[in-house]
Amino acid sequence: MGEAIVAGLLAVGFVDAADITVADPSAERAEVFSAHGVATVADGHDAVANADVIILAVKPQVIDAVVAHLSAEIPADAIVVSIAAGITTARIESLLEANTAVVRVMPNTPAMVGQGMSVVSAGSEATPTQTETVREMFEALGRAIVIDERQQDAASAISGSGPAYVALFVDALARAGVRQGLSRDVAQALALQTLRGTVELIERTDTHPEVIIDAVSSPGGTTIAAIEALEASGLRSGVFDAVAAAVRRSKELGS
Ligand SMILES: NC(=O)c1ccc[n+]([C@@H]2O[C@H](COP(=O)([O-])OP(=O)(O)OC[C@H]3O[C@@H](n4cnc5c(N)ncnc54)[C@H](OP(=O)(O)O)[C@@H]3O)[C@@H](O)[C@H]2O)c1
Repeated sequence: MGEAIVAGLLAVGFVDAADITVADPSAERAEVFSAHGVATVADGHDAVANADVIILAVKPQVIDAVVAHLSAEIPADAIVVSIAAGITTARIESLLEANTAVVRVMPNTPAMVGQGMSVVSAGSEATPTQTETVREMFEALGRAIVIDERQQDAASAISGSGPAYVALFVDALARAGVRQGLSRDVAQALALQTLRGTVELIERTDTHPEVIIDAVSSPGGTTIAAIEALEASGLRSGVFDAVAAAVRRSKELGS
């Protein structure tokens, strides 16, 4: 995710490579970042001293240790951005010097291809201007919206985890095509383009998804027969349960 952020910011010229320093303890990962033309260091201490914005792109399990390690070096006017799933701004603030601005962001993996969806929330010390600066940074990776932090668990269960649900659906549709005699390549191409086209159709016509379902469902036809089978399989309630499970897990990680 750290690489997606760096690559996205550079691709749209939001910031020069000369103004980014990446800290990663892994020499192998550092090489990946060097290929983008940014400076790399092994220890975050050597990256934060003059930073305007510090993005913490480490796993939730190590974030406490990383923040505690960097805390004394972070400039008083820097914005600290965390993308760690489930970790609250209050928790990060508690590990930093008083009054440090913290902004929490949940990006998603389509950011790697400039089609990310990021949700941004201000901590108690971040000003609206600082929050907007961070939102604009993540807008460079696709779309970014500001939401109240209390909605982060729900938002991340939709857009943060969402690429996994969508990939699972694409795989299921492609396999169903294989079951009906199509080659995997053809079945996957049909599934992917149908997904892409339907998203575009819903967005451009600004219609409710139900309108799209009705438009394809002729009375007594093939699509309504398929929809009947999908409803009988509990697809909708399965999605409700899946999102609720992700929200529960997000709360557990943050506690
Ligand atoms: N993947 C997603 O879809 C997604 C979506 C939204 C948010 N997030 C959040 O993004 C964060 C990163 O996730 P990821 O999937 O990108 O994980 P990742 O691939 O494991 O990346 C984390 C990187 O941080 C490095 N690291 C570990 N300790 C460090 C330290 N002390 N200082 C500097 N770097 C350190 C790791 O190095 P080593 O490999 O050597 O340990 C690794 O290169 C997580 O908090 C996750 O919740 C992920």
